[in-house]
Amino acid sequence: MSVISDAAVKRNSGATLPLGVFDSGVGGLTVARAIREALPQESILYLGDTARVPYGNKSPETVLRYAREDCAFLLSRGVKAIVVACNTASAHALPALQQEVPVPIFGVVEPGVAAALAATRSGRIGIIGTQGTIGSGAYQERLLRSRPDLILHACATPLLVPLVEEDWVGHVAARLVLEEYLAPIRAEGVDTLVLGCTHYPLLREAIRGVMGAGVALVDSAESCAATLHKHLEETGALAVGGASGTIEICLTDRPSNFANIAQRFLATDLPPVQVVTLPTLSH
Ligand code: DGL
Repeated sequence: MSVISDAAVKRNSGATLPLGVFDSGVGGLTVARAIREALPQESILYLGDTARVPYGNKSPETVLRYAREDCAFLLSRGVKAIVVACNTASAHALPALQQEVPVPIFGVVEPGVAAALAATRSGRIGIIGTQGTIGSGAYQERLLRSRPDLILHACATPLLVPLVEEDWVGHVAARLVLEEYLAPIRAEGVDTLVLGCTHYPLLREAIRGVMGAGVALVDSAESCAATLHKHLEETGALAVGGASGTIEICLTDRPSNFANIAQRFLATDLPPVQVVTLPTLSH
């Protein structure tokens, strides 16, 4: 199934078009922020599927269906590339989307894997993410494909997303939850921990406090922005000109606490927000 017509492919190939970034909700703004830091001249069209968040506990089939609709929306607006900022959607849907979407499409798993491989010295790596991401085995399979000798410790850490959304990142409750989740990983002597979820970069300091300064924390948002930068440069698709890019946020619902949460994720004043309806695809 293709999610867009040939005419739209041509329209989407211009370097001046925005980058489309989507996530299940506001979490992907950490990826949008990393892209803005790495590529300030690029404009971003961000879609947060806030009406259907979370994706982290949904079945692979449902996440793929949602991800297809997210892509169809971004393509209908005209984007030159798509970033699947959501780890769960990258884990469940990226291989299928890469066959269907007519513009370059990037996920956060591959860049996170590359960064973890670069960071580890001992070959012992921890991975945390949603139930969907960890259950899919996406990080584990890709890491072991590159280095079968790795020793991996993967753990689903579903309580971390609500803690971040409550802005409890420095709260004693966050510390206790992190201790509980991370103690077994720490006990295995990992030297690298993959933060395999959009929300976890906001817990970086608390996670460092539990894991210790000797463990490298791999943030897939930063690695994804670096991969995208390299691709745009190599294909001549970088936005040119000195002006800084814009960011536009589209949501499928406007949660009451959105502004507050989004501001923390984006670390800047909020751009205009629109509520949109996604195209429904038949499969
Ligand atoms: N954005 C999701 C991820 O990175 C976390 C939130 C959710 O479960 O939808 O996996």
